Amino acid sequence: MNTISTYEMLKEKLGEIVPDFELQAKAELADEINTLKKQCNAVILGHNYMEPALFNSVPDFVGDSLELSRKAAETDADIIIFCGVRFMAETAKILNPEKTVLLPAKIAGCSLAASITAADVRKLKEQFPGVPVVTYINTYADVKAECDICCTSGNAKAVVESLGTETVIFLPDEYLARNVAIETGKHIIFPTKTPKVDSDLDYQMIGWHGKCEVHDQFKLEDIENARKQFPGVVILAHPECSPEICEACDFTGSTSAMVNYVKDNEASHYMLMTECSMADNIASENPDKEMVRICSIRCPHMNEITLEETRDALLYTQYQIEVPEDIRVRARKSVDRMLEIGPSGAFTKITKS
Ligand code: 13P
Ligand code: SF4
Repeated sequence: MNTISTYEMLKEKLGEIVPDFELQAKAELADEINTLKKQCNAVILGHNYMEPALFNSVPDFVGDSLELSRKAAETDADIIIFCGVRFMAETAKILNPEKTVLLPAKIAGCSLAASITAADVRKLKEQFPGVPVVTYINTYADVKAECDICCTSGNAKAVVESLGTETVIFLPDEYLARNVAIETGKHIIFPTKTPKVDSDLDYQMIGWHGKCEVHDQFKLEDIENARKQFPGVVILAHPECSPEICEACDFTGSTSAMVNYVKDNEASHYMLMTECSMADNIASENPDKEMVRICSIRCPHMNEITLEETRDALLYTQYQIEVPEDIRVRARKSVDRMLEIGPSGAFTKITKS
């Protein structure tokens, strides 16, 4: 593809969403990236939250955390560019120690990954000896290394059920843990620094108070207002939203489960309780369907990944992800164990339509 055909492709997909001058500039950058990508034998993995021009022009694969982890495990490229956030790029490095893994932004963190340390996990394991530890993939490698198995929003229920144990420690997302506890019928507690032994005896799931700074912003009144204003609107939530939000909406699932839900359903109007770039990406794929916008809640960390930064990643081989080998080997066991389990799709209880 040359710049003109890239521009035409972007114009056709995004002409209603992105101003023309921006599309022209982005088409040029996209071409430069795609040329460099071939020269370097690089593969670009793009998370569903990438801004629309990037999402539609440079990734070889797009998807949710689970799908991209699988792609990272399979690739034979020399360089992996992860257009997502740091914990995702780290997971790619855990799976590919011999490859160069690049994150196009220096930090691109995640409030969930920042909410827990390896020392926190060690303390919990002392407090609840013998209880298996599941960690959401939105954690750093040293935390994964302390855990038994990872999960994503696409397989959390299946991962917990695969353990076959009565009790489980599930870290660090409080809302995801509460949603999985509802799905699996487990009673969840959140240990305090000074546990009261009596009340802490009755538990099947032990959670942590991590929150996604984006999904924590959605309110029940957002749903009530949308339903009043757009009767028949189908509302989809990511399971990083609170159980109250998930209960009030029509469907809960991973980012890709939401993408597929809109594609496969007949309704005319949809509203997403997740970060807002994905609504643009879904709108461009489904021109016959209306995405109702309540917000402009963009993940500030995903927003650090731009076409300019992606081009610079290839030009200057930056920013290289490194994981100390002893941590990587232990973290890999948690990731591999997860990859052996298939996706469980949506959160069944909350799927109403
Ligand atoms: P998915 O695994 O559903 O893509 O979610 C990743 C994420 O960080 C959502 O905020
Ligand atoms: Fe982390 Fe939330 Fe951003 Fe996802 S949307 S990367 S969970 S801060």
